[in-house]
Amino acid sequence: MADGRTVLGIETSCDETGVAIVRDGRLLADVVASSVSQHAVFGGVVPEIASRAHTEWLPRCTRQALAEADLGIAGIDAIAVAAGPGLMGALLAGASFARGLAVGRGIPLYAVNHLAAHVAVAEIDVGRLPSPAVALLASGGHTDLLLVRDPVGDIVPLGATLDDAAGEAFDKVARVLGLQYPGGPSIDRAARTGDPSAIAFPRGLTGPAESNRYRFDFSFSGLKTAVARRVDRYVSEDAPVPVADIAAAFQEAVVDVLATKTLDACVDSGARHVVLAGGVAANARLRHVMGERARSMSIDVLSPPPRRCTDNGAMIAWLGWRLLESGANPTGVTFTSRSQMSAADILI
Ligand code: KG4
Ligand code: ZN
Repeated sequence: MADGRTVLGIETSCDETGVAIVRDGRLLADVVASSVSQHAVFGGVVPEIASRAHTEWLPRCTRQALAEADLGIAGIDAIAVAAGPGLMGALLAGASFARGLAVGRGIPLYAVNHLAAHVAVAEIDVGRLPSPAVALLASGGHTDLLLVRDPVGDIVPLGATLDDAAGEAFDKVARVLGLQYPGGPSIDRAARTGDPSAIAFPRGLTGPAESNRYRFDFSFSGLKTAVARRVDRYVSEDAPVPVADIAAAFQEAVVDVLATKTLDACVDSGARHVVLAGGVAANARLRHVMGERARSMSIDVLSPPPRRCTDNGAMIAWLGWRLLESGANPTGVTFTSRSQMSAADILI
């Protein structure tokens, strides 16, 4: 292992500006600023607002991270930046800032995959990932099942959503229920006082015919439509909408499908470990149900604390540090940011 290696990580793929510093496998600083409150009134992320917020906040977050780590920029050996997937303007804000620092200070630059970073970040809290592990990566833009042999270079996609991402479904259903954006945390909270069995919402791609062809794929758009229809019915009948029950029953349907398919993937691949990653992995019910079902199958669930599930700079700094430590060549400043990428695209 290389000694004395310090990596500054920069995350700007969506609405969180994250800057963090990892040295020798230790997180020294982790600064996250979110423009989420500026998007809430629109019910979703407005790309232009997110890009401008990143540009404004990156210098401040970087200064704060360096101060937290008690370092000057001269103490940074490499910079890592999220190159995709994500909102193009937001990605470019981070990439431009990272390039400026790298060229201006002569620091090597690694362009890293945001999805692989979501998986790799679990190592900060749980140590080196056991191999193989099945990762459930569920965020606002992705719902992927991945077979991870090594977060640096060996990730095989097993399945993905065919339509909405799990987080997107949470966000859209919250809107239908009149709950605040982002929908995931709002539904997570509202569901605590609801009855998950109040309504049997559909579990997409789990029927006998579909579960063969789409064994590790997901579909949440039918579920979202079923919730919208149910709410329309209450409204047209002038009846009060049972928000907590609908939130709990919707959440249960999502969690049931995510847990079932993730554990099926473990059985098929022989993996004895599950890694939860992405914003939806912060969901309390998902963590609980996944933990209970996995325990009964003697499968181990590795779940990073909620703040490391949603977007943050630590995940980028960590993957950058892992690349540096593994001897990978820096990407240099000529990489291309990409709005669409697979978790398997490790080096840009
Ligand atoms: O990973 P992330 O921060 O950003 C993306 O890369 O997309 O994930 C954001 C998504 C949003 O859709 C948000 O509603 C969802 O994660 N989310 C949650 C929870 N916290 C965030 N979904 C369910 N339960 C939560 N507690
Ligand atoms: Zn993300």
